[in-house]
Amino acid sequence: MLKEFQISLSVFLLLFACGFLYEMTLKPRCFFSCIPTYKTMMKPENILRRRSIVFLETTDRLEPSPLVSCAVESAARIYPERSIIFLMKGLDNNSTYLPLNATYPSFSLLSAIRNVFFFPLDMETLLQETPLFSWYTQINSSAEKSWIHISSDACRLAFIWKYGGIYMDTDIISIRPIPEDNFLAAQASKFSSNGVFGFHHHHPFIWDCMENFIEHYNGNIWGNQGPELMTRMLRLSCNLTDFQKIKDLKCPNLSFLHPQRFYPISYKEWTRYYEVWDVEPSFNDSYALHLWNYMNQDKKAVISGSNTLAENLYQKYCPITYKNLIQGKERMDKGEPKDTIPPTK
Ligand SMILES: *[C@@H]1O[C@H](CO)[C@@H](O)[C@H](O)[C@H]1NC(C)=O
Ligand SMILES: *[C@@H]1O[C@H](CO)[C@@H](O)[C@H](O)[C@H]1NC(C)=O
Ligand SMILES: *[C@@H]1O[C@H](CO)[C@@H](O)[C@H](O)[C@H]1NC(C)=O
Ligand SMILES: *[C@@H]1O[C@H](CO)[C@@H](O)[C@H](O)[C@H]1NC(C)=O
Ligand SMILES: *[C@@H]1O[C@H](CO)[C@@H](O)[C@H](O)[C@H]1NC(C)=O
Ligand SMILES: *[C@@H]1O[C@H](CO)[C@@H](O)[C@H](O)[C@H]1NC(C)=O
Ligand SMILES: *[C@@H]1O[C@H](CO)[C@@H](O)[C@H](O)[C@H]1NC(C)=O
Repeated sequence: MLKEFQISLSVFLLLFACGFLYEMTLKPRCFFSCIPTYKTMMKPENILRRRSIVFLETTDRLEPSPLVSCAVESAARIYPERSIIFLMKGLDNNSTYLPLNATYPSFSLLSAIRNVFFFPLDMETLLQETPLFSWYTQINSSAEKSWIHISSDACRLAFIWKYGGIYMDTDIISIRPIPEDNFLAAQASKFSSNGVFGFHHHHPFIWDCMENFIEHYNGNIWGNQGPELMTRMLRLSCNLTDFQKIKDLKCPNLSFLHPQRFYPISYKEWTRYYEVWDVEPSFNDSYALHLWNYMNQDKKAVISGSNTLAENLYQKYCPITYKNLIQGKERMDKGEPKDTIPPTK
């Protein structure tokens, strides 16, 4: 038991020492100006000590879109005492040499936020010492048609098992703190999502999910390792009933949060985020808003001055993103210079 603990501790330190060194080598020339000094002085093991919020990018994409940037910035504002961790697969791949800040304004503005930390996502290291590791070493990922989603499903479980905290999809805008530690989010009655969930590290529910993941693995069924997995595991331990009013379900060892908490606008109505409302919803019963980006195939975007619900949410919950990527973009398009990013509090 002690040995196991030591191994996982050293893997943890190694992973984050690498990540930290990476971050220091990432911007050698703006080391003292782009990253606030207190951030570079932090020890990597302290970054995760405060239950973090984790976001994942399992494609090689490096440039956070405005919505991704808004998700990360809003989380950084709502959880000022916590670390916001962004694991990116693309950082794994020789991108250390790219001047990322100059290439990607969203990367630059997010890394300037005090409690936001980028790390390379090394899936093999992350899955080590979890039930998912043997599955990972055997699977031929290029033969899996939904690998980007499946690898993300796996990584979020492994991260929350190892370090605890909250996992969030990159299309979720945080609007107030989630007052629960161990929770799943209902997408509908009796149906859990895996787009946002939180647990203490080494929570048995997550371990059981990882075991079930490999036992019932089927990459051809959409969501089988994602929402379906969470839902079938929840059903095993909890008497799932319909929600009564806006009240969460208390299950053994976890809370099952009402759809209003994250999905006040359901996927069928997702375009409402990109419309102008006569009276905007107050979202008083919500902790964060899922914008259903996978429904957004025709790439609806937030446009400055459009007064859509999404634009007003950006202005309120991710003002730096709004100013630089929505307003700033239009000004740059017109050939005017971009504002410098103000320091966050
Ligand atoms: C690294 O990048 C190259 C070119 O973009 C790509 O073909 C390759 O698959 C990437 N490797 C990894 C491990 O992501
Ligand atoms: C990695 O980047 C360096 C510096 O830009 C370049 O010389 C090298 O060819 C790259 N390697 C790969 C495998 O892309
Ligand atoms: C990015 O960093 C380089 C130095 O590494 C600096 O010259 C450049 O001005 C920075 N760009 C932005 C947009 O901050
Ligand atoms: C993995 O799958 C790809 C695509 O189906 C195939 O071309 C390749 O031969 C497979 N590799 C192995 C080692 O089975
Ligand atoms: C499940 O909950 C319903 C409604 O609260 C209750 O009537 C039923 O007895 C419960 N079943 C079990 C097995 O606890
Ligand atoms: C709740 O957690 C404890 C340990 O933390 C575990 O022993 C127990 O089996 C769990 N209960 C359920 C229903 O998962
Ligand atoms: C939402 O909360 C705010 C502040 O707590 C309050 O002023 C407002 O009346 C509430 N709106 C609704 C619809 O409950």
